[in-house]
Amino acid sequence: MTSIPSLLIIAIDGGAASGKSSTSKILAERFNLLHVDTGSFYRHITHELLRRGVLPTNLAALTLALTELNFTTQLQGRSAQLMIGGQPADHEIRGQNVNEHVSHYAAIPAVRQKLLGYQRGQVAVAQQHGFRGLVMEGRDIGSVIFPAADYRFFLHADPIERAKRRAREGQLDSIAERDRLDSSRKASPLVSPTGAIAIDSTFLTLEQVVEKMAAMIEKKLS
Ligand code: DC
Repeated sequence: MTSIPSLLIIAIDGGAASGKSSTSKILAERFNLLHVDTGSFYRHITHELLRRGVLPTNLAALTLALTELNFTTQLQGRSAQLMIGGQPADHEIRGQNVNEHVSHYAAIPAVRQKLLGYQRGQVAVAQQHGFRGLVMEGRDIGSVIFPAADYRFFLHADPIERAKRRAREGQLDSIAERDRLDSSRKASPLVSPTGAIAIDSTFLTLEQVVEKMAAMIEKKLS
């Protein structure tokens, strides 16, 4: 087995519309990192299972369907895209139907287990493509996927401000309901893990949030 030289790993967790994606993309650009949006992975799986008519309440059918899903990765710019059966996700993963169902599928341990190894495997993808490391965003990255990441950030923002951000993106999203489900599930709930750096972005611009994070990263790198 070939060993993977240590790459920079940055975990960014937070609730829906807390600013994870925008900050992760800028940090990826700035520090030459692979950008990994794990929410898009849960969305793609949800879309595929809905397409197959597999409900989250039918555990036997769901477990069987999961064994049939073959995961590979394709890069889009510097972002890792989950391919299922060789197919990329389409725009519907950001639509209302997936918004309404994704937290129910994400609460199922078998779904999380299926993604665990795949997510950790993104370190090897980053290495193969010559990145300095990766920035991975989600709900359980600092707590479960990479608890020993070099930096673990947790983004907070007032729910009203977050709803406004989604509305500005033209999206209908039940942010509060998704956060409630994601925080209260038994399997890898949304939590700010001990030792993570918490940032409240309610009154900060995107640039200010990025500068806070980048300053910490640069300080340690130098
Ligand atoms: O980041 P997002 O809003 O696109 O994520 C969609 C859903 O996926 C979110 O409501 C919960 C789930 N998710 C998760 O359970 N764990 C992750 N690491 C990322 C997302």
